[in-house]
Amino acid sequence: MSQPICKITDLIFTRFELVDLDKQKEFMNHFGCQLAHETDNSIFFKGSGSNPYIYVASKGDQNRCIGMAYKVNAFEDLQKLSSNLNVEIVDNEEPGGGKKVTLIDPEGLEIEIYYGMNEMKPEIKTSPKLNTGNSTERIKSNSPNAGDRVNELQRIGQASDEWQLEDDKWVYNLRTSVKRVGHTAINCKDAKESIRWYSENLGLLVTNYIMGPDGSDHMGAFMRADTGDTPADHHILNNVQFPGEGDFAPYGHAGYEVSGSVDDLMAGHHHLKSVDKYPHEWGIGRHLLGSQMYDYWRDSYGFTHEHWTDGDFLDSSHPPEKTPFRDTIMAQYGPFAPSSFGVSVPNDQLEEVRKNPRLDQVVAMVEKGEIPMNPEENK
Ligand SMILES: [Fe+2]
Repeated sequence: MSQPICKITDLIFTRFELVDLDKQKEFMNHFGCQLAHETDNSIFFKGSGSNPYIYVASKGDQNRCIGMAYKVNAFEDLQKLSSNLNVEIVDNEEPGGGKKVTLIDPEGLEIEIYYGMNEMKPEIKTSPKLNTGNSTERIKSNSPNAGDRVNELQRIGQASDEWQLEDDKWVYNLRTSVKRVGHTAINCKDAKESIRWYSENLGLLVTNYIMGPDGSDHMGAFMRADTGDTPADHHILNNVQFPGEGDFAPYGHAGYEVSGSVDDLMAGHHHLKSVDKYPHEWGIGRHLLGSQMYDYWRDSYGFTHEHWTDGDFLDSSHPPEKTPFRDTIMAQYGPFAPSSFGVSVPNDQLEEVRKNPRLDQVVAMVEKGEIPMNPEENK
């Protein structure tokens, strides 16, 4: 492949248009993000990591994902994008500063590329010591039966005080602490074109090509940032072209890494479950592609947001793999994915969407050849 125009290094935030920002503020707080800035027309939420915000929504007439924002490490990258793609470099008028260009991807998403945005000092949260497995410390100390944590009780948050009665209902108050947004998944009309666009313009590398049972590779990919010898997340983007009928909005989901460990993810799950305001989408399980533990929730508008922890890191030497479609859906463990997974629909339409075959049932149909594999046959 010829050299890309630039190589983005990080996903900074996702951008939405919503009719009611107050409702979304409530969700983002329950989800574990913190309000960083607010104007009459926009909200900016941050995590505990270095980016000044990781989620932006502006007040508008409809509910939609506008796009995503990525970072480059050199101003020259913005200049190359500007000259090659005929886009203007402008000052970032929103909090955080820096300069940016805005591109439009093949799905019509606005892709903002930033250079020079202010970074925050990350809040470092340490994970608790776990008395489980055969740790190196235990093997070194020649006492494999002893724990790493002795005379130190494991307490996640405020122990049983995390459970509070609210209107005769028990609510679990410890929320996940979100660190950053690590990836998005988008529904593509033509996954091959999407893969080409992100490779040639932003330098993304394919980690996995998603293969149909007929050996074709038009079902999408998991792509990561090319950060050379510095390890990057297994994927920063998942381009998906599901088989069968369907004209889906581009936004599938955004995946937010939690600050702590598995306990952080589990606490957030029980918080959102006990609050009982938002539909649970999929989880808890452990993905195969990326290996993360995952837990997916829908906000008030039906957009899906994922908590994840313990994902794979790969440097640029890792070659692309050809991966069967089933590996995207059939996790290492976890419940079956609902038919609504990856689809942005208002929550009052969710029940109807979930009457369709679950995604494991779609995988079975694909493997039995009951769904045509050629995209042209699906039209
Ligand atoms: Fe994800």
